[in-house]
Amino acid sequence: MVEQTVPAALSALREHLKNVPQDMRAAFAADPARFETFSVRDGDLLIDWSKCAVDAKAMALLEGLAKAADLEGRREAMMSGKRINFTEDRAVLHTALRNLSGDVVLDGQDVIPDVRAVLDAMEAFADGIRSGETKGATGKRITDVVNIGIGGSDLGPVMATLSLAPYHDGPRAHFVSNIDGAHIHDTLEGLDPETTLVIVASKTFTTVETITNAETARRWIVDGMGEGAVDKHFAAVSTALDKVAKFGISADRVFGFWDWVGGRYSLWSAIGLPIMLAIGPRNFRDFLAGAHDMDSHFVSAPLLKNLPVVMGLIGYWHRVVCAYPARAVIPYDQRLSRLPAYLQQLDMESNGKSVTIEGLPAPTPTGPLVWGEPGTNGQHAFFQLLHQGTDIIPVEFLAAAQGHEASLGHQHDLLLANVLAQSEALMKGRTLEEARRQMLTKGMTEAEVDKIAPHRVFSGNRPSVTILYRTLDPYTLGRLIALYEHRVFVEGVLYGVNSFDQWGVELGKELATGLLPVVEGKEDAASRDASTAGLVAHIHRLRGE
Ligand code: F6P
Repeated sequence: MVEQTVPAALSALREHLKNVPQDMRAAFAADPARFETFSVRDGDLLIDWSKCAVDAKAMALLEGLAKAADLEGRREAMMSGKRINFTEDRAVLHTALRNLSGDVVLDGQDVIPDVRAVLDAMEAFADGIRSGETKGATGKRITDVVNIGIGGSDLGPVMATLSLAPYHDGPRAHFVSNIDGAHIHDTLEGLDPETTLVIVASKTFTTVETITNAETARRWIVDGMGEGAVDKHFAAVSTALDKVAKFGISADRVFGFWDWVGGRYSLWSAIGLPIMLAIGPRNFRDFLAGAHDMDSHFVSAPLLKNLPVVMGLIGYWHRVVCAYPARAVIPYDQRLSRLPAYLQQLDMESNGKSVTIEGLPAPTPTGPLVWGEPGTNGQHAFFQLLHQGTDIIPVEFLAAAQGHEASLGHQHDLLLANVLAQSEALMKGRTLEEARRQMLTKGMTEAEVDKIAPHRVFSGNRPSVTILYRTLDPYTLGRLIALYEHRVFVEGVLYGVNSFDQWGVELGKELATGLLPVVEGKEDAASRDASTAGLVAHIHRLRGE
């Protein structure tokens, strides 16, 4: 098979790897300006990558690599509506959803008037529900909203709704995604159909999990209040308006979006309806404005002062040049607890590819494994491996300078002390000599110290990036998410892949369709592979079938 060649700039970077600081303590000691040189600020947002093993030359080489990959041209192609998602023949214009006073032309037509029209309709609907003017079928106020969706029709809304809890003044928000009946069962169990609104959110309106859960919810509404109540208790969000109509949701409760909005980029569209219901239209507009602000920064800031570009370059450095297989995202911000899950789809569905846009095998590693949990909880779980494991896993820390809980300022200070301590510990480590000295000071014998000290050594020189912001408000959350969206784009350009399709999720879906009758016992499992057949047989045995 034809191989794609490695870009010359990458060879230079690999060559340079041996020259970058190997001892980060020494690098900081030698250069008092290291933090200033390797951090960038835009408004309240600061990114510090000075604890990563790079030097000015590495950054210059990375910038050269980005230029050689035509990052600026690709960015312009995306923002101007070129069909860069060529495997699905689609433009990639989620940025238009937050460019409300601009004009974005696609196929000779400005898309912004349509974007504004849907936003206005969402706002009118949200205002009605939130004020209590729009009631349920029995005349009661809607107190709970259940969003049924999966992947991009779930992860963004869940993550953003949790993140913005201090701004909630609307109905309670619930999210059902899993085909596992336990999810919808446990969610609906505590709710009253008379006061519940169900939003069916699916770009394609064909996703089996969502349609199945929507049918279950429909039965729940009908069982509670009769067929006539469906109208007043359902809304839908989709690009497939014909399919929604067939499901029986009335047209004035259907909010559309467009095929140029990828699922994992859709929370800015009508998919954001549950967020808007929870925090209100004005806060939702702030959220969009924050994202638009990041878009403007992304298109105009010089590459090495550009937050998403720097994040992408450092991501590429770690993944391709240093060959680290994973990255951990650790928000020291409890309300961002679903950010890692959201980023898993954003990043891994986008850049988990092994074929380049030329259709050739990728010549370098592509997207890393992305995972994480909030700090400080993670410290008491997997940080052991981050500090002393045999793999180096770069960490991205996020933290707000201020929490929302003014009366709990001391707890916020403790939180910040912890995030700073972790990045410092990863970078500095602890030598054998330091470990020994500490133990001897504590009165341990030489023999004890000889035995235990090696276990107390931290290699240090473990890279981390810290993202700081003032406070997690809607505007800031918009900026942060757009920052990550563009970072994924930048890395995709450097890997040379199409970040906007997701063919890798198809095969499992197809096989599941074929396996349902086998699980149900309507078809024989004998034609499957021996493992699958054996597993099916055991399921049937356990169920006494
Ligand atoms: O299975 C992957 C996927 O296609 C995602 O890309 C998408 O976000 C999700 O399924 C849900 O799709 P839909 O919104 O069409 O139901």
